[in-house]
This record gives sequence, structure tokens and C-alpha cells, in this order.
Amino acid sequence: MKVGILTGGGDCPGLNAVIRGVVRVVSNAGGQVLGLQRGWKGAIDGDHEILTPENTDDIVSKGGTILGSSRTNPYKRPEDVTKLLDTFAKLGLDALVAIGGDDTLGVANRLYNDHRLSVIGCPKTIDNDLSCTDVTFGFDTAINICVDAIERLRTTTESHRRIMVVETMGRHAGWIACETAMAVGADFVLVPEEPVSIDVMCDVLMKRRAAGKKYGIVVASEGAVLSQTEGLVTQNAKIDDFGHVSLGGVGELLAEIIEKKTGIETRFVVLGHVQRGGAPSAYDRVLGTRLGVAAGRLILEKRFGRMVGLSGTKIIDVALADAVGQLKTLTSDFYRDAMEFCK
Ligand code: F6P
Repeated sequence: MKVGILTGGGDCPGLNAVIRGVVRVVSNAGGQVLGLQRGWKGAIDGDHEILTPENTDDIVSKGGTILGSSRTNPYKRPEDVTKLLDTFAKLGLDALVAIGGDDTLGVANRLYNDHRLSVIGCPKTIDNDLSCTDVTFGFDTAINICVDAIERLRTTTESHRRIMVVETMGRHAGWIACETAMAVGADFVLVPEEPVSIDVMCDVLMKRRAAGKKYGIVVASEGAVLSQTEGLVTQNAKIDDFGHVSLGGVGELLAEIIEKKTGIETRFVVLGHVQRGGAPSAYDRVLGTRLGVAAGRLILEKRFGRMVGLSGTKIIDVALADAVGQLKTLTSDFYRDAMEFCK
């Protein structure tokens, strides 16, 4: 049995643990794993490397993805789908594990539906916004990075009696911002799911200052929306193969507004790709490993068109079709809990 494996979309800590898990299970059963380079791009071009238990043994602790990643979408150009199917045949692949977010898994699902390609999906994103899994690996590492950064920012913010706006990732979902805000005891949090009023936010910040708090921390998701300002979500013109614009700038804009409205000196920090970098947490290593093992087993059982996931403490699998196309955004109960501390 020959199995291809690829990682697509934005990288995240824990991807290598999944790769290692798949390689181990397939190799233990006498099969071979080929690592396709840079997501769907490698599946189209055929660029690959042979993965063995030996050359993947210690990658569990390594961040990023040893295979490289890209946002290539084979469905953007119909000839790329043909090329991909040719590569699959040329390499003699019996199955493919696609590790990625909604875009990568959406392609896997289409290839399964349109061509009965033997695919298994594995969900990944630091944003934690994929359906049919309680948590995605990468998220735990990301929020711990945010918390560490804010603990450093706290001291300098307090020294200067400032407000610090910290912009986190989270394109469509406020999980990173919300859990980070809760973990650091932030004064206000802004998420894409719940537009808030600038006046309400500034009132909270001024009330806290008047009550004696010497500094303020605001955590804002990059996709945050304010009810009063049209087009607050800033973006540059770059659009990827899946039609997504590049976000960024909400932190800077908020800092300007807050300083103007409250009269309190305000700075901003964009945590950006730091959140996706470095070694995975122990939690993400374990979750990634368990998902990789489960994906490997699905292949041995020839149960294709499935996605592995986490439900409670159990690893489950669901139809890929059920998992893609609808994001798991921040739930209102979670947000309400966080907002108890932002009044
Ligand atoms: O991985 C998801 C994500 O982190 C989003 O929150 C963010 O908008 C995007 O990736 C940025 O990705 P890149 O700049 O690497 O294309």
C-alpha cells in the first residue's frame, strides 16, 4: 500500500505529529508513505519525498510542517485537477491523507465526490474554527503564545499607564481572542461574531481607569467588527486561490480610536504569525499524534471520504462532506462568559 500525505493552507504547530502518526501506522502494516511537497501544489506537480518511521521519528516536537504548505487550489484551474489525478496514478498512490483547514478539506471532499479519490481528511488550524471536531491542534499552542506575549506586554503597559491593543489571528472566529482574553484577564475583547460599540468599549476602559486600574489590555481578533464603523475590518488587496483577502490592521485602527476617545495613551501589537510558530504544546503533540494514528487506521480499513476529529476525549471520524463548508464560530455562551469580565 502506498499512501500520499500533504499539508495545505496556513501551517500550525502539531502538523508534524500527524504526519508521524500516519507514517507509523501505515509502515507498521507494511505500507509506504510519500510526503507531497507544499500542499495541493505537490499533488499536482508530483514533488515528493519518502517518509519512514526513522526519518519522521523526532519530528513530533517540531513546529510548522516538514512537507511545506501552500494555498494552491487545484479547482482554480481545471487542468490542475487532471494533473493531480495523473500524479496520483503515476506515483501509484492507493490513498491520500490531506491535513488542512476548510479550504484544503473542501478540495479533498470534492476530489472524493467527483473522482472517488481515496482521501482521508485531518482538520488543522490555530483558529479552532472547523466543524465536527471539538478542538483543532495548533490552537492550544497559539493561545499559550498569546498569553505569554500579553504577560510581557502587561508590565510595560502598566509602567507607562497605557492601554495596549493586542491583535490576534482569527479570520472568521474569535476563539483565539476570547480564550486569550479570559486567560489574561483582559479589559475588553473584540471578536468577528459579535459587533460591539466603540462607545461601550471606551466607557469600560475609562471606568476602569477611574476606579484605579493603571493600565488596560484589549484583545482584538483580526476579523473583529465594530457596530459603529463601516469597513473597520481592514485588509490589503492580496487575494489567495480560495478568494480570501489578507486581514490585518484592526489593532492599529482600534488603538487610534481608543486614544482619541478616552484620552489615554494607547499602543498596539499585532501578534501575527508568531502565533503559528515554534514548537507545539504537549497537548497539540498528543492530539496531532492521535489524529494521525486514526487517519492511518482509516486507510488500512479503506474507509475513505472521512475526516478524523475529537469529540470529548475520543477520536472519532465523520463524513468529510459533513465537516466542510460550515465553520465552527465562537459560541455565544462562551462569549457571554468572557464579557462578564469586560464590563
Ligand atoms: O491559519 C489561519 C490563519 O491563521 C488566519 O487566522 C489568518 O488570517 C491567516 O491564517 C493568515 O495566513 P497567511 O498570512 O499565512 O496566509
